[in-house]
Amino acid sequence: MTSPPPSKSSVPVVILGTGRYNPAYVLTNAELERRVDTSDDWITTRTGIKERRIAAAGEHNSDLATKAAAAAMEQAKVKASEVDLIICGTVTGDMPFPATSCLVQENLGAHHATAFDLGAACTGFIYGLEIGKQLLQGGGYKTAVVIGSERISSVVDWTDRNTCVLFGDGAGAAVLRQREGRGGGILVTDTGSDGRFAHILNQPGGGTRTPITAENVHDRLATLKMSGKEVFRQAVGTMSTSCHKAMKRLGITIDDITLVIPHQANIRIIEAVGEKLKAPPEKVFKNVDRYGNSGAATVPMALDEAHREGRFKRGDKILLVAFGAGLTWGCTIIEW
Ligand code: UT7
Repeated sequence: MTSPPPSKSSVPVVILGTGRYNPAYVLTNAELERRVDTSDDWITTRTGIKERRIAAAGEHNSDLATKAAAAAMEQAKVKASEVDLIICGTVTGDMPFPATSCLVQENLGAHHATAFDLGAACTGFIYGLEIGKQLLQGGGYKTAVVIGSERISSVVDWTDRNTCVLFGDGAGAAVLRQREGRGGGILVTDTGSDGRFAHILNQPGGGTRTPITAENVHDRLATLKMSGKEVFRQAVGTMSTSCHKAMKRLGITIDDITLVIPHQANIRIIEAVGEKLKAPPEKVFKNVDRYGNSGAATVPMALDEAHREGRFKRGDKILLVAFGAGLTWGCTIIEW
């Protein structure tokens, strides 16, 4: 589904500030070589990842999310009392319930906010931006904090070399507000899901279908499982199609985009999507070498890094695109 482009009467929803938090511990390929049968050469050539961040013991998903949200609010000059909506994209929340966003609300002291989590895996931030925009434009809310935050290290099977080299922990956030008297903001979003592929990337245990039992823990069912090749194929196809749909809806081409910020799962996926979009490599943001795949946190972390590096300026169009378990995917185009 692609949202309609902004009409003359719709007040733009803009991103006032971005923030991120990366846990301090750097897990290198060299350390992974000591844990499983892998090599820096394999990981680098097959994924582009050199290192990833891992949360400390006692550092919870809600802590990462709170720090990213606080950084975005500081940049936006928004106080906790002004926040009336908190959306946290995550599939590795502190607990099955309550929502991690409610824990973030408490940490921030944003007591007037409505808070909920969004389970769209790596696409969570892009779904969150669109839902936040729609709720703000509905008129009931004024200031939203949209977060993508994961503590994936808690659900990674650290004995499975097929998956444990790929993921890292982190959080990113953006503050959204309606802004009268200017155009731009979140222009158009394309989203999609396909439950026929739910089995190719999932955490089978730990929910109500396969609850946690000693046997299930022994069988490592409460860890992430992935059919890498199939996920790779789907990722390239769905992300590039979603980008084309969003650009077509706005009547623009890749030449009108200043920076493409894709989900950072694998350098080969990023390059394949860039090629399908005919985007010159320098127009495609990459930090997968330093963080690996941080799920829903990946895109907002990259957005914040690019923003603070000055990779785009007011009036530039940037394109965010992600893909994840579900399957889910989404592309949003923002005029900064
Ligand atoms: O957020 C969205 C979710 N994730 C993704 O988008 C990830 C999508 N998939 C991928 O990025 C890639 O499919 C992987 C990086 C996971 C795997 O790359 P691949 O080129 O598809 O490799 P493969 O699965 O075909 O494995 C090739 C070989 C296998 O050995 P055999 O069977 O050919 O002897 C694997 O056992 O590489 C082996 N292998 C490893 N070797 C060393 C798999 N993982 C490792 C490893 N170190 N860590």
